[in-house]
Amino acid sequence: MRPQDEQLLATARDWFDRDDQVEHYRAEAAHGPTPLESRVLNRFPAPPADVLDVGCGAGRIAVPLARQGYRVTGTDVSRRMLDEARAWATAAGTRVSLVQVSGTEMPFTAASFDAILSCKQYGYLPGADLRKNYLTRLWELLRPGGILALTSHVVSSEAEARAALDGDAEHRAAAARFDALEPLDTFSAGAGFVHWFTRDQLLDEIAVLAEPEVLESDGLQLGFVLRR
Ligand SMILES: C[S@@+](CC[C@H](N)C(=O)[O-])C[C@H]1O[C@@H](n2cnc3c(N)ncnc32)[C@H](O)[C@@H]1O
Repeated sequence: MRPQDEQLLATARDWFDRDDQVEHYRAEAAHGPTPLESRVLNRFPAPPADVLDVGCGAGRIAVPLARQGYRVTGTDVSRRMLDEARAWATAAGTRVSLVQVSGTEMPFTAASFDAILSCKQYGYLPGADLRKNYLTRLWELLRPGGILALTSHVVSSEAEARAALDGDAEHRAAAARFDALEPLDTFSAGAGFVHWFTRDQLLDEIAVLAEPEVLESDGLQLGFVLRR
């Protein structure tokens, strides 16, 4: 890990521990999966099966999966998001095993999951090398024939996204504190790190593991499904 990566990861964690983010994701969790996400989840093996939801947030997807009969483990760096997920699982009358840990350190045995989901979480990992290690680790955690599913928003063009960032004073002030940022590394409200992807960059990073099936809704919300 590069020296600044710990700091960048910490800004993402602190962002999701904020009151406004907790409230936002608590409200969003009640809506469950979007149509695109439901199409992705349809690729999962039927329950019961062991599912890992990395960066599960307030349990928006982990809880409905548990209610369907999956054995679900949810991980997240944010303690407050996990508190929300726990409360949501209890209210829904189901159980999700919740672990506070960064996606960069997955304390699980190899080949212990039938499906792994990373929903709107991948961009919070700084640096292509760290993300590559992360994907490789998730791949190891899958049983043969298992499914890795990853969803993300993408920007329509790198030039447009860069122009937006150049015009964002809060982002520029936050970015100035770090000396080795990649293009399209951004800081929401000058605080939480998140990397924005173009479709091609995301596809290039993921296709290192296997050829993904690509699902999309409006061209900017993408789902990638890979079979191990
Ligand atoms: C945009 S939210 C998505 C939450 C959930 N997956 C969903 O779709 O509703 C991103 C989540 O990733 C988590 N996250 C950010 N950095 C992380 C990291 N390094 N490891 C694990 N989770 C992380 C955040 O705490 C947050 O809960």
